[in-house]
Amino acid sequence: DMDAFVNDLMSKMTIQEKIGQLNLVTPGGGILTGSVVSTDVESKIKNGQVGGIFGVYGPEKTRQAQKLAVEESRLGIPMLFGSDVIHGYKTTFPLPLGLASSWDMELIEKTAQIAAKEATADGIFWNFSPMVDISRDPRWGRISEGSGEDPYLGSQIARAMVKGYQQDDLTRSNTMMSTVKHFALYGASEAGRDYNTVDMSRLRMFNDYFPPYKAAVDEGVGCVMSSFNDVDGVPASGNKWLLTDVLRNQWGFDGFVVSDYTSVNEMIAHGMGDLQAVSALALKAGLDMDMVGEGFLTTLEKSLEEGKVSEADINLACRRVLEAKYKLGLFDDPYRYFDDARPAKDILTAENRKVAREAAARTMVLLKNEEQLLPLKKSGTIALVGPLVDSRNNMLGTWAPTGETRYAVTVKEGFENVVGESVNVLYARGANISDDPEFAAKINVFGPKIEIDERSPEAMINEALAAAKKADVVVAVVGEATEMTGESSSLTDISLPECQKKLVRALAKTGKPLVVVNMSGRPMTIGEENELADALLQVWHAGVETGNALADVIFGDYNPSGKLTATFPRNVGQIPIYYALRNTGRPQDGEQFTKFKSNYLDVSNTPLFPFGYGLSYTRFEYKELVLDKSTLTNTDEIKVSVSVTNTGNFDGEEVVQLYVRDEVASITLPLRELKGFQKVFIPKGDTKEVVFTLRAGDLAFYHSDLSFSAEPGEFTVFVGGDSNASLSAKFSLE
Ligand code: IFM
Repeated sequence: DMDAFVNDLMSKMTIQEKIGQLNLVTPGGGILTGSVVSTDVESKIKNGQVGGIFGVYGPEKTRQAQKLAVEESRLGIPMLFGSDVIHGYKTTFPLPLGLASSWDMELIEKTAQIAAKEATADGIFWNFSPMVDISRDPRWGRISEGSGEDPYLGSQIARAMVKGYQQDDLTRSNTMMSTVKHFALYGASEAGRDYNTVDMSRLRMFNDYFPPYKAAVDEGVGCVMSSFNDVDGVPASGNKWLLTDVLRNQWGFDGFVVSDYTSVNEMIAHGMGDLQAVSALALKAGLDMDMVGEGFLTTLEKSLEEGKVSEADINLACRRVLEAKYKLGLFDDPYRYFDDARPAKDILTAENRKVAREAAARTMVLLKNEEQLLPLKKSGTIALVGPLVDSRNNMLGTWAPTGETRYAVTVKEGFENVVGESVNVLYARGANISDDPEFAAKINVFGPKIEIDERSPEAMINEALAAAKKADVVVAVVGEATEMTGESSSLTDISLPECQKKLVRALAKTGKPLVVVNMSGRPMTIGEENELADALLQVWHAGVETGNALADVIFGDYNPSGKLTATFPRNVGQIPIYYALRNTGRPQDGEQFTKFKSNYLDVSNTPLFPFGYGLSYTRFEYKELVLDKSTLTNTDEIKVSVSVTNTGNFDGEEVVQLYVRDEVASITLPLRELKGFQKVFIPKGDTKEVVFTLRAGDLAFYHSDLSFSAEPGEFTVFVGGDSNASLSAKFSLE
């Protein structure tokens, strides 16, 4: 068995070889997200100084590298091959915030399954995904990589992704080990600035930010990645309370913990001591593998000699890494993932692209649709304008390092594919994504995402206006370049760049019906565009099939069903903003400003678009919210049913959401919290009864002493199509 095998192997290992297993390198072939790159990788592998490697792709290269470990190192211990496979491998799916907006767990699991199949075909079997960091701050660039603001939804998605990657059987050659990241609280960095300080109460950690990490652990995730930020005064990578007390002792995690890119070394900058000190701190905290920084490799032996770490500390970390390799079946066959025939068979297949197209359509969120402007008819003349219409470099979405932009379908191509024959499509760029060359230079570090057209802004707008004047309807595709979100892409202004705002204003002035499509990786402050547009569609960067999927939605081949999973603020001053508010002692009266109440002088407390919001081409009416009993006990369950009728003219899907308020509790709790959702298909004219089940456990929360249970008393449940759901009923817990 595993224990006996690992014991036996470890009995043969020198201390240097054990430390070698804790070293994760990258030869720097791919995209670098830190300033350090591993050197002498080949000789280190042969010397038994490498436990895992990332940034090497394809069966040939991965086999070659594995051979060095297996055939040329003393003990022949195989290496782990990792990568960031965040929203698909080569078949790039919509970025994670978009996928979350589908509220479709089966679909999300399926995308992860496909990603695992494609990645393993290319020799990668350890994934640095999912990222489950809750974020309530759209200034933070990496909000695009997570599932948004809600712990309950985030937990369901965490589970779906881990399941998709690992599928309960890591020894299969088409499944991969998953890493939940970034533990912990990375999404709560102050002022939305990446890598910034995090400081929050333990109550908020446990109730609002920890649940998705814990859900991934409960789902059996193989690996946890520590985050760059500090948590309660200690950087996560050296935080024993976090990595050992909470993660292992309370939650029972039995896999291994990897650092983020040089996050051990970065504890020097955090002010925790020199490289030897921070490396010892990390190991003793419960961190097992050191990504790229080589603090472990270069200092742990010295720390052992000086008594700053013990052999037991090193053994424990080494054991965990070896166990991961055992679970992956690497000791049976270290070459199991390196099959030259697989890439052509498994990667970017027509079948996978079909799922990508469906997934992309299901992530789009209809925010406004005056007079049923959408869907558009497949006839007449359409002006298709905007800097993101013909921009292949900006379709995949941020952090798709294994994707290739050349495979992406642009919006222009999507329109041609879907209505090429029947609609006269007039194209004009209309504006640059940004006119600011300094800004563009920062965005283009990883390759061209913002191209500045040399024509004057007026000339470009005029071209768009000329097209608009000839058209029956205008579709303007505006928003962000992909690298305006993602790592180290925080913003203090999340409105459209000025040149795009001007374009939308000019188009609106023509009086032609105007559809604004906002393509972004984050919630944006698009209040003005919402006013000016007749229809507004939020589409994210939707992956390799973006153009086709967008055309499917615009022309009604797919009726949009996406719902926001992160609140859209009216302005940045409202941030942090989220639906699960506490009441305060002086809640605002309605929406009016009242002196000495908790509100702003200049803007309402309400968001531009709330969590859970999203329209359909049809309408759904909620009626008859019924509870099967009025009192719940600790041992039974309560059934909450509601009838939902499709009263419009299209078949459609609705995300039926259930929120609960605990009326009186020992700590201040949110006014409502999501506790259930179901995505249901309802043909036009039909009614569906949707039934939820609530148990006492669903009402549990962490108390001031961090114990976890539900408190007896009165509860209100709300059911509806967004977080403002108004249909309500009451019950009590005994
Ligand atoms: O997995 C990533 C992480 O999300 C950010 N820093 C780099 C890691 C490896 O690429």
